[in-house]
Amino acid sequence: MAARRRTAVLISGRGSNMESLIAAAAAPDFPAEIVLVLSNNPDAGGLATAAAAGIPARAIDHRPFGRDRAAHEAEIDAALREAGVEIVCLAGYMRLLTPYLVGRWAGRMLNIHPSLLPDFKGLHTHERAIEAGVSHHGCSVHVVTEDLDAGPVVAQARVPVLPGDTPEALAARVLVEEHRLYPEALARFALSLPV
Ligand code: GRF
Repeated sequence: MAARRRTAVLISGRGSNMESLIAAAAAPDFPAEIVLVLSNNPDAGGLATAAAAGIPARAIDHRPFGRDRAAHEAEIDAALREAGVEIVCLAGYMRLLTPYLVGRWAGRMLNIHPSLLPDFKGLHTHERAIEAGVSHHGCSVHVVTEDLDAGPVVAQARVPVLPGDTPEALAARVLVEEHRLYPEALARFALSLPV
């Protein structure tokens, strides 16, 4: 088997998508291994989950950097390089990235977004989908580019929007699909990367 691609996951909160990636990558034949979890938020619940799974997990708090986003990103980038990372997965990472970090990981950074892109970029996607009256909603995994939630989509999953849906109920239905879709998309992406 070809070498498993060294993958980092960036989170800001509970990290349930990170957990699904770690679980999938625990299989020895999965084409990526999770070697590092980073969070901009020291209180992210996902850090403890990752550590419990034996994955090096570290917070790089953005707050001491104030408005200097590039300096915060330089530290993230240094941690990624130090760990020999080849693929970065954003999973509920709630910081907007500058062109600097996106450029450093061009073609090697994925994000999961809770909508059927290009619909509902940005925040509050479930509320907006219900308000718009769409019949289907879902999630997308895309390659990260400079524009928010706009890079090439590599995988999508759809769910129905049901009568009487609340944003919470719809989010829960989408999340089940996120947990299935992200590992599948990462596996395909890892296999497609040039050596
Ligand atoms: C997910 O819905 C993800 O698509 C969005 O933020 C949420 C993060 O959840 N970007 P978790 O931290 O992975 O549990």
